[in-house]
Amino acid sequence: MDKILEGKTVLVAGAGGIGNALALRYAAEGAKVVLGDVELATAEKAVHSIVQSGGEAIALRLDGSDEQSVQQAIDATCSTYGGLDGLHANFAFMADGDPRVGILELPLDIYDETQRVNARGFYLCTRAALPVMIERGGGSIIYTSSAAANASSPAQVAYAMSKAAGQALMRHVATRFGAQGVRANTIAPAMTMHARIENLVPPEMIEMARGAARIKARVGRPDDIAAMGALLLSDDGSYITGQVISIDGGTTMRP
Ligand SMILES: NC(=O)c1ccc[n+]([C@@H]2O[C@H](COP(=O)([O-])OP(=O)(O)OC[C@H]3O[C@@H](n4cnc5c(N)ncnc54)[C@H](O)[C@@H]3O)[C@@H](O)[C@H]2O)c1
Repeated sequence: MDKILEGKTVLVAGAGGIGNALALRYAAEGAKVVLGDVELATAEKAVHSIVQSGGEAIALRLDGSDEQSVQQAIDATCSTYGGLDGLHANFAFMADGDPRVGILELPLDIYDETQRVNARGFYLCTRAALPVMIERGGGSIIYTSSAAANASSPAQVAYAMSKAAGQALMRHVATRFGAQGVRANTIAPAMTMHARIENLVPPEMIEMARGAARIKARVGRPDDIAAMGALLLSDDGSYITGQVISIDGGTTMRP
C-alpha cells in the first residue's frame, strides 16, 4: 500500500498517549516527524521506536505555551528536514478535569493556565508555522480539540472553553489562508483510552463515556485519532478544510 505522507515533514506538538500514536502513524505513512513535548522523555520514547522501525524522526523539548520555544521547534524542523508541511497541535493542560468541579469551584489560576496553554499555545504554534508553510506553497494544520467543546457538561468549563477557542482559531486559519494553500481542521475526540490515563480515569467515567457513545463495543483509541490525522495531512485530504471532525463513537452528532 502507498505511504500517504511520503515526502512530507510534520511537527507534532504534544506527545503523550495520543501524540505518540500520531507520531508513530505519521512516520509509518512516510513522513519525517518532529515530536515535541515539555516532557522530552515522552517524545523520545516514541521517536526511539520510529527510528528502530526504519522511520525518520527527532524529539525535542517544546513548551507550546512559550513563544521562543515554539519558534525554536519550527526552526529545528526546517533546519533538519528543509521545511514544514504539517503541524498537529495536540498538547493540553488538563488540570480542569474533576467531574464535580464547575465555574463556582474552579480556582482562577487553573482557569488562567488552561487558557494560556490550550488556547494561547495553539495560537502561538499556528503563528510560527504559517509563514514557513506559506513559503513552501501550503500545508495542513490539525488541532486536537475535544467533545467537551461541543457537548453540554456541568464540569470542565475552562477546558471546554479552551478547546472551543481552538475551533475558532482553526476556522480563522482555514478562511484566511486557504488561498495560499493552507488547510486547517480540528479533530474532536471523546474518551480515548491509553496507558497514561488508564489508572487516572475512574471506571465510572469510562462507563459514562461508553454509555454516551453509539458504538458500544469499545471506547476510543489513539490510533483512531492518528488515522484521521494522517488523512488530513495527506494529499487525499486536500479538499478538506475548516472542519471539526468528531471521533467519538457517535457521542456528539453535530449538524
Ligand atoms: N485522552 C482523551 O480521552 C482525550 C479526549 C478528548 C481530547 N483529548 C485531547 O487529546 C490531546 C492529547 O491528550 P492525551 O490523552 O494524549 O493526554 P496526555 O496527557 O497523554 O498528553 C498530553 C501531552 O501534552 C504535553 N503538554 C502539556 N503541556 C504542554 C506544553 N505547554 N507544551 C508541550 N507539551 C505539553 C504533556 O506533557 C503530555 O505529554 C489533548 O489535547 C487532549 O485535550 C484527549
